[in-house]
Amino acid sequence: MLDLDRATVQFHSPGGPAVRAVDGVSLHVPAGQFVVVIGTNGSGKSTLQGAIAGTVRLSSGRIAVAGHDITNWSQHARAGLVGRVFQDPRAGTAGSLSVLENLAVAACRGRFPGLGWATSRRLRDEAAARLGRIVPGLESRLDQPIGSMSGGQRQIVTLLMATWHRPELLLLDEHTAALDPAAADRVVRATAELIRAGRLTALMVTHSLAQAASLGDRLILVHRGRIELDVEGAAKRRLTADDLADRFDALRRTDQLDDAAARTLADLYI
Ligand SMILES: Nc1ncnc2c1ncn2[C@@H]1O[C@H](COP(=O)(O)OP(=O)(O)O)[C@@H](O)[C@H]1O
Ligand SMILES: [Mg+2]
Repeated sequence: MLDLDRATVQFHSPGGPAVRAVDGVSLHVPAGQFVVVIGTNGSGKSTLQGAIAGTVRLSSGRIAVAGHDITNWSQHARAGLVGRVFQDPRAGTAGSLSVLENLAVAACRGRFPGLGWATSRRLRDEAAARLGRIVPGLESRLDQPIGSMSGGQRQIVTLLMATWHRPELLLLDEHTAALDPAAADRVVRATAELIRAGRLTALMVTHSLAQAASLGDRLILVHRGRIELDVEGAAKRRLTADDLADRFDALRRTDQLDDAAARTLADLYI
């Protein structure tokens, strides 16, 4: 489903050193797999997702989704294959539009003619059914402006929008990080249910080691633009949040040693 072949993204900041945010990553994700991605701040998780969605260009390497080599496709062209949800609940929805109107925008995306159908009874019923299935009761709020809803409810609508037409690949970038713990928990459960029911292929970045341990079929730990750990099956099911915290500590210690060594070397050459 998703194939990365030595994908590399190098950023050049004026005057600064070049940063390899994604460093030769090769990865095969089969259809229907739910992959959880973790990593320290700045390890390249968002850049990797941006490279797949087309907001960031690869410096080298190739990306294929559902058998299409999309390396040179525009972001717009990729939107037909890839759905995306970000951290900010305001990012995926239009605040002044109602819940139904937002869902109508998603339902009509790439479809023509859309707007007649958008306001039709059929769409209303479909939207109510989908909302009610994921959070019972939410369907009664179809006509409210989405700006009046809580962050968690808004993320759930955003998730429904991103998956309305069953994307080949769903990308979630810390989509519960801005929510309070109870709301984050509800959104995570809704996410897992949408992925399971739709048999979606998904790549979910999370800052929560508890989520990483309990969710998904496979876990990938990214560090300095590379995949440090990749586990699935029984090994994934055995992983605990404590195991992952230990891994993070070990990586941080190695980083500190590397930094200290780099400083010592720099001192020697001054
Ligand atoms: N547009 C950009 N220009 C320059 N450097 C960037 C840009 N985006 C990200 N970076 C750098 O790339 C690295 C990875 O960033 P990012 O993918 O956002 O990490 P993460 O999502 O894992 O926190 C960081 O060092 C970050 O500073
Ligand atoms: Mg990020």
